[in-house]
Amino acid sequence: MPIKVFVQTYGCQMNLADSEEMFLHLSARGAVRTDNLDQADAVLINTCTVRDHAEHRALSFLGRLCKWKRQNPQRIIIFAGCAAQRMGKALQKRYPYLNIVSGAKEIEHFDQTLDKSGLFSPAATPAAPQAALSAYVTIMRGCNFNCSYCIVPSVRGPVKCLPAQTILQDATRKAQAGAKEITLLGQTVNAYQDGSTTFADLLNRVSEIPGVQRVRFTSPHPIYFTPQFLAAVKDNPKIARHVHLPVQSGSSKVLQEMKRGYTREIFLEKVRALQVAGFEISTDIIVGFPTETEEDFAQTLSLVDQARFTAAYCFKYSPRQGTPAAQLPLHSENVLENRLSILLNKVRGLAEQAYQRQVGTVQSVLMETPRKGRSSSNYWVETGLDFPVGSVVSCKIERAEGTLLFARNEHD
Ligand code: 5AD
Ligand code: SF4
Repeated sequence: MPIKVFVQTYGCQMNLADSEEMFLHLSARGAVRTDNLDQADAVLINTCTVRDHAEHRALSFLGRLCKWKRQNPQRIIIFAGCAAQRMGKALQKRYPYLNIVSGAKEIEHFDQTLDKSGLFSPAATPAAPQAALSAYVTIMRGCNFNCSYCIVPSVRGPVKCLPAQTILQDATRKAQAGAKEITLLGQTVNAYQDGSTTFADLLNRVSEIPGVQRVRFTSPHPIYFTPQFLAAVKDNPKIARHVHLPVQSGSSKVLQEMKRGYTREIFLEKVRALQVAGFEISTDIIVGFPTETEEDFAQTLSLVDQARFTAAYCFKYSPRQGTPAAQLPLHSENVLENRLSILLNKVRGLAEQAYQRQVGTVQSVLMETPRKGRSSSNYWVETGLDFPVGSVVSCKIERAEGTLLFARNEHD
């Protein structure tokens, strides 16, 4: 009987990719995946610590597993990722029923961690990787920035870029298994450099792999979007016209205190240049950074008015242990709640407005079901006619309803 593993991932796409990578090592030891916790023999929890809330969710899941483990003490619990890295040895003391703790920095050695535990043995025939339409490829780990609110550099360490050759092999293997869309991942993904291979070179080379129809990437840092980058990608239609570009604040003063490395004006210039090249932009915003005044917050609201984002993910500032900003006095929960709700009110309509702006345009759509797919700019499109899943279809957009575009009006 194979070991059945329930995988629970918290946090970003990098974590989803890391969970897949860890699961590959488990499947090489005869494990199969299950979505039913009651039937599972092992649980892999891949955790996030970017905000206190994310860490709490993982820990409360771990707390609930105490009963699950008591039902059958042979069951295995693996706690991995960023919160595991931050909390380290303290975890095993607090949760003695934990079998394996594996921090984010140790992912490259996860196979050895499994072998050292003595809980798994190599299988004769590892399960074949599943073919997914869309696949992640990690191109770098870690971050060389030191944004004053952010715990990532301390839990993931400095940047390590994978060799271009390794990345191309990984992408090729996933394309051969059926992936049509490849998303390149890294904490500051567009800072990628391997010898003379730049991030733009890598995007172009991945797009040339047989079977690859579209290349996405996340998350970039604004300062690496240069005119050279845009010139190198502008004629390649396989590079998706959507960029998730975190701004964090609309106030140059707060951006400086956050150590983001750009001003409001520079950010808006980068956004304009990307938009002129056809890219749609979504973003992340933090409200209630300790030094953020009402005037600074008003600047964030006005930046949202100016930038034409397609979406903005908004977070209340959360102090993280060991970061420079954690020394600063906090705003009250009232101020945080208030600013968040004002901002959420403003960003609520962004997606629908962006969808409306697409009416009349022609979009290239990668079909994810026979009738529905995603455009290069990441809009959902209903085609009205059936097309093979995985094919790319050119569609004239006739109307938008909420967050769905229709390529053909059914009433015609
Ligand atoms: N508090 C609140 N939000 C944060 N983020 C990162 N660190 C913090 C923090 N300490 C947000 C940023 C980042 C996203 C992944 O999480 O907006 O882009
Ligand atoms: Fe954190 Fe800043 Fe690095 Fe992003 S660029 S991971 S916010 S330190």
